[in-house]
Amino acid sequence: MTTSRRHYHITTFGCQMNKADSERMAGILEDMGFEWSEDPNQADVILYNTCTIRDNAEQKVYSYLGRQAKRKHEQPDLTLIVAGCVAQQEGEALLRRVPELDLVMGPQHANRLKDLLQQVFDGNQVVATEPIHIIEDITKPRRDSEVTAWVNVIYGCNERCTYCVVPNVRGVEQSRTPEAIRAEMEELGRQGYKEVTLLGQNIDAYGRDLPGVTPEGRHQHTLTDLLYYVHDVPGVERIRFATSHPRYFTERLIRACAELPKVCEHFHIPFQSGDNEVLKRMARGYTHEKYRRIIKTIREYMPDAAISADAIVGFPGETEEQFENTLKLVEDIGFDQLNTAAYSPRPGTPAAVWDNQLSEEVKSDRLQRLNHLVATIAAERSQRYMGRTEEVLVEDQNPKDKTQVMGRTRTNRLTFFTGDINELKGKLVKVRISEVRAFSLTGEPVEVREVVSV
Ligand code: SAH
Ligand code: SF4
Ligand code: F3S
Repeated sequence: MTTSRRHYHITTFGCQMNKADSERMAGILEDMGFEWSEDPNQADVILYNTCTIRDNAEQKVYSYLGRQAKRKHEQPDLTLIVAGCVAQQEGEALLRRVPELDLVMGPQHANRLKDLLQQVFDGNQVVATEPIHIIEDITKPRRDSEVTAWVNVIYGCNERCTYCVVPNVRGVEQSRTPEAIRAEMEELGRQGYKEVTLLGQNIDAYGRDLPGVTPEGRHQHTLTDLLYYVHDVPGVERIRFATSHPRYFTERLIRACAELPKVCEHFHIPFQSGDNEVLKRMARGYTHEKYRRIIKTIREYMPDAAISADAIVGFPGETEEQFENTLKLVEDIGFDQLNTAAYSPRPGTPAAVWDNQLSEEVKSDRLQRLNHLVATIAAERSQRYMGRTEEVLVEDQNPKDKTQVMGRTRTNRLTFFTGDINELKGKLVKVRISEVRAFSLTGEPVEVREVVSV
């Protein structure tokens, strides 16, 4: 038996759902007595929490994994874990590809890490990818920030977008109960967290799988009801939610966001394409007209709201004209930010086997053109902040300039200003904006708001 503490390392790829899962798995490992190591080469347990949304995300994992598999030959007691979406997609095939692996575990098994590791320490090679009912998390996550926190609200996805692996790897929708969500937020409020982002692959689909209907025949538990239910949690000053699906984004939800002061005026609503025929083949369940109406309604209630989204270019069969409809939508809406991607065929998805795939040249040319437009529009959108006073929640020091702190406006714009992090961390500061860039702002502090937590 060695007396020195054993160390763990986690590298996380992919979306916020994976980041939240990693924080919970880190909490479990610390509960088991492991200590964090920033350097994977110093760790006894290495966990890769993986993403398979596009091919390049998956390939990155294999190159990281190859290096550690080699190390295992010199250090046989090294424990190697692949968690997340590649683990779920590949399952046992991963063991054949990388026999040095000890544990392959899908995202639904994140909360079971302790159990699974015990089986590994008993000498087994373990694959945990069968669909399960996600157990409530009883450990304390090791959260990356002391100011902002993620709270899972709904796991999985019930859509069937023809390009997307998520339903295959994350399983069917499972909503947590409003009581469990509120209890986690209350604990966060007590610990001094100021901002909570409620998380779900399609967060506005929340509650469809929970029992209960209202006399008017709608589900009793919707995201709108949840926002009203958690809004007065003491200490939590800001509430955000992501990602929203246009199919479920109701006017009732928009009204609640406008009415509830803690809910921030930023909405992430992916549209994927600005062309109705492409949207139909993607099986998205809405038209560009419906998407435009949602944004218009948001802006009627909250004129200054920031809007961000995801878009895919080069979907199979997308014509130049159809791509131009995406450009047109981007131009008309005026997004504050847009995550763009070239279509990547994914195993097990319908669109991957269609015979109208576009060439890499066409896809990358369209991606460049779209990105150029996005940067231009974001820079224009930023101009509206010039000279204004914005409320910024201070999260951290500016890593590039230690005399500055950084945080976000309610509309999610990254903002820098001169100040001491020890004094300002977790404070809401009114900042007069004096410099604007496409995706960030700089200003001077005007007033620090004292938040009294009860
Ligand atoms: N549930 C969310 C998005 C989840 S995946 C929604 O429906 O909007 C995150 C983003 O990855 C998607 O919005 C999409 O833009 C992108 N994406 C998903 N599958 C992709 C693929 N096969 N190729 C390229 N981008 C993809
Ligand atoms: Fe993927 Fe569509 Fe589900 Fe989003 S809604 S995760 S794009 S299948
Ligand atoms: Fe990637 Fe899985 Fe998220 S595939 S984007 S980590 S749900």
